[in-house]
Amino acid sequence: MDKLRITGGRPLAGEVRVSGAKNAALPIMAAALLSERPLLLENVPRLMDVRTMGRILALMGVEVGTQTDGHLALHAAQIRDPVAGYELVKTMRASVLVLGPLLARCGRARVSLPGGCGIGARPVDQHVKGLQAMGAAIAIEHGYMDATTRGLKGAHIVMDMVTVTGTENLMLAATLAEGTTVLENAAREPEVVDLAACLSRMGAKIQGAGTGTIRIEGVRALSGATHPVIPDRIETGTYLSAVAAAGGKVRLTGAAPDTLGATLEKLREAGARISVAGATVQIEMAERPRAVSLTTAPYPGLATDMQAQFMAMDCVARGAASITETIFENRFMHALELQRLGADITIRDNTAVVQGVERLQGANVMATDLRASASLVVAGLVAQGETVIDRIYHLDRGYEALEHKLSGIGAKIARVR
Ligand code: UD1
Repeated sequence: MDKLRITGGRPLAGEVRVSGAKNAALPIMAAALLSERPLLLENVPRLMDVRTMGRILALMGVEVGTQTDGHLALHAAQIRDPVAGYELVKTMRASVLVLGPLLARCGRARVSLPGGCGIGARPVDQHVKGLQAMGAAIAIEHGYMDATTRGLKGAHIVMDMVTVTGTENLMLAATLAEGTTVLENAAREPEVVDLAACLSRMGAKIQGAGTGTIRIEGVRALSGATHPVIPDRIETGTYLSAVAAAGGKVRLTGAAPDTLGATLEKLREAGARISVAGATVQIEMAERPRAVSLTTAPYPGLATDMQAQFMAMDCVARGAASITETIFENRFMHALELQRLGADITIRDNTAVVQGVERLQGANVMATDLRASASLVVAGLVAQGETVIDRIYHLDRGYEALEHKLSGIGAKIARVR
């Protein structure tokens, strides 16, 4: 199994190009199921999760092109088999995003239940409830959701909590439903907005994406489209937090600064000098960061997907910070690994108190989930000596060319077997 070896303690300098957003690309790939015409995507990141979604679609009969230079063509002229099986779904929860589009297009779908994952229970009850309200019959048997409908109908759906993929699944389904669907308490994440933008290019009628109420007027059919995926705000935030922790001066190009509000605010609070010009964000950190406390929240609050990276930065900060996780109940697994590097972290319920230490020391650590792995990379870049991170397949799911991008800004990092 591949590992990452990092020799830390060096400031970072140079330029990194941000990739397309994983969490936007995945639901947009699922949107290809809604049309007989080709969907041409640009700025698609080269990631394991994107390959997994491609395999899921291909097994249903979608023509999935070869990904070159960020371009990916998807053509669902016919859907042979509206099924997403356990073997692939268990590796990526976002696979559940095919449920809504399959029901809308084929009137039936069989999708494995995703099951638990490293960061918590993560049920899909809101996806199921919403589709039922739109007229689907869904039986859950033998670990699968078996869904059928004689035709989805628009509905008024108030979601019990803010769920990103839940909002996306229902929005996808509603584009081809008969009548109007209103989603209340909808997720406002930029990735939801990007999905709506792609669907609108395909001919869908959607209003209010990016607000808590989304209104979708169903249409008979959707056409093909060309759509560029938005830049990855979490990847951007990860590199920014690495510089804030390790020091240096780095320019991130191809970014979407308007999606980074809460992250940039916290980095400034930590003492980073940040300037934004168009699609470029520059960060300069000349001293040890100041500790910053934070509480994760749905967008526009601070993303749970940035919590682990900020914790790594707080580990070497001046002062103490308290970090409260409100989205997932078991998302502090990185804290135990950070302690192996010498971090001082105490966890009580869903709050971690981090007392900054002057230096971390390199050690062997294990990646437990995608963003936890990213926090170990950030910590490894600051730690004195060598850090070896095991199980980096998690990183390959969500970070394109991580070690190349980091080497390009002066990090000593290598992939070893
Ligand atoms: C998405 C992101 C993930 C991010 C998360 C929160 C993708 C592919 N993944 O995941 O990177 O960490 O948003 O910003 O976009 N919940 C239920 N019932 C449901 C659905 C969700 O109880 O039917 C709960 C979850 O357990 C969790 C909370 O709602 O506590 C938010 O989860 P959700 O927004 O759905 O996360 P994902 O969409 O899976």
